[in-house]
Amino acid sequence: MSARMYENFKVNSPNVKYTEENIISDYTYQTTRTQYVNNELIVEPVEQKYTFKTERKVPKLGCMIVGLGGNNGTTVVGGVIANREGLCWNTKQGLQTPNYFGSVVMSSTIRMGHDEQGRDAFVPLKTVIPMVHPNDIVFGGWDINGANLADAMQRAQVFDYDLQVQLIPHMKDITPLPSIYFPDFIAANQKDRADNVLTGTKKEQMEQIRKDIRDFKESNKLDKVIVLWSANTERFSSVVPGVNDTIENLFAALERGEEEISPSTLFAIASILENTPYINGSPQNTFVPGVVELALQRNVTIGGDDFKTGQTKIKSVLTDFLVGAGIKPVSIVSYNHLGNNDGKNLSAPQQFRSKEITKSNVVDDMIASNNILYKPGEHPDHVIVIKYVPYVGDSKRAMDEYTSQIFMGGHNTIVLHNTCEDSLLAAPIILDLVILAEVCNRISMRQEGTDSFASFHPVLSLLSYLLKAPLVPEKANVVNALFKQKAAIENVFRACIGLAPENNMLLEQRL
Ligand SMILES: NC(=O)c1ccc[n+]([C@@H]2O[C@H](COP(=O)([O-])OP(=O)(O)OC[C@H]3O[C@@H](n4cnc5c(N)ncnc54)[C@H](O)[C@@H]3O)[C@@H](O)[C@H]2O)c1
Repeated sequence: MSARMYENFKVNSPNVKYTEENIISDYTYQTTRTQYVNNELIVEPVEQKYTFKTERKVPKLGCMIVGLGGNNGTTVVGGVIANREGLCWNTKQGLQTPNYFGSVVMSSTIRMGHDEQGRDAFVPLKTVIPMVHPNDIVFGGWDINGANLADAMQRAQVFDYDLQVQLIPHMKDITPLPSIYFPDFIAANQKDRADNVLTGTKKEQMEQIRKDIRDFKESNKLDKVIVLWSANTERFSSVVPGVNDTIENLFAALERGEEEISPSTLFAIASILENTPYINGSPQNTFVPGVVELALQRNVTIGGDDFKTGQTKIKSVLTDFLVGAGIKPVSIVSYNHLGNNDGKNLSAPQQFRSKEITKSNVVDDMIASNNILYKPGEHPDHVIVIKYVPYVGDSKRAMDEYTSQIFMGGHNTIVLHNTCEDSLLAAPIILDLVILAEVCNRISMRQEGTDSFASFHPVLSLLSYLLKAPLVPEKANVVNALFKQKAAIENVFRACIGLAPENNMLLEQRL
């Protein structure tokens, strides 16, 4: 055996101190700065000392999902109930027990080092710093469709029948709150679902959402709430000067009831005003400049856009591998077909366009990293097609063809067929987003020579691993490559307990 798994660990280092309230670690961040001078790249190592402080008390957390009655919403809630209650169900393969597979927080491990025999020691990622357990999250939220969650979960056709039957008593009394519905933003084919909607001016509806958040927090005695959009994909909003380009213009436009303010933007405004982190799991540009400015002004976490579940996740691995291996992808063609309500909504051109945009940019950073392969401005042909095929339901099929140029003018073609089980892939990612956003709110850092601790930038780019089109702070680089995104999470957690980043050099085993 070359590896062992442990549940508990203790860091034996003068750099880390566990007090009753916090984990305090002294950490030397090593990076490099580059400058182009006289036709030469000058590379300088830079060292910066930080003190990391992580609050140890895990809050009682609530999560309000916009689109609670959808396939993702009901799968998250049902999955958590099944885990919490220990529900087991019969399938044609035998008895199935609940788990959190697919959640990087709950089901991945992190290497802590190796012992004298060279055996690697791993611990669960969730044990590195204190994190909320999904079983303890209180769920609620909104949907434009008023079905209770038992009916909605059955409508979704995601869980096995025997599990559905067992979940009904746990879900039948949960009903979504009425939501904001402006028909123009989602496909016309969603109209029949809209029987649970707010009325009033845009501002009044936004104020109602604020009240819903406050009431939910109070009635469940929660310390923190996170709001997450898992409702239908909206069309892109036009970013219009004087409407949504600054905070002032956005609030003035809200007073006027301006048409270009989408439901999702109203949810984001309401959440930020309630000091509640807001995560966008769909592709649309909820975070218009006025909203980003508001989040910065109030120092409230926002994260997005669009859950990275199936095809795009593979793309952000495969392209990284190919370009990193010195192989040149020249054409990437991605077909999808799906038959759930998401697919129905995406069959409308404007909503498909939102998805096409978030899916398209996912290879950009990898292409830009290698101008041995690509001349400036050169890009592989990249085509995305999505079709609605009702019969396949939530079992989305994704077919991809990667054609690359290899040695001496040769070609390599990789063809993939991926059956995604969409909502079962998305649900654990939703949990990860919520748990990671929460823990990031308990981590702060003080740079040597400064007085105060600063939290992460409100645009929480550490969530990028879970998102197709990561939102990052202005002037920050977008990283799409999956393993870099994962390493960022692991190494930040390691820093919180005074450990250096995992560098994979393994000198002690190579010399
Ligand atoms: N499942 C995945 O793998 C995946 C991956 C990436 C992104 N997404 C995105 O997640 C979203 C949800 O996916 P899903 O499969 O659960 O879709 P779904 O259609 O089953 O659920 C969406 C729910 O949102 C509700 N809704 C629509 N507009 C609303 C509003 N303004 N307020 C409140 N509720 C509203 C609908 O009634 C529906 O119940 C979609 O936008 C999808 O593109 C899903």
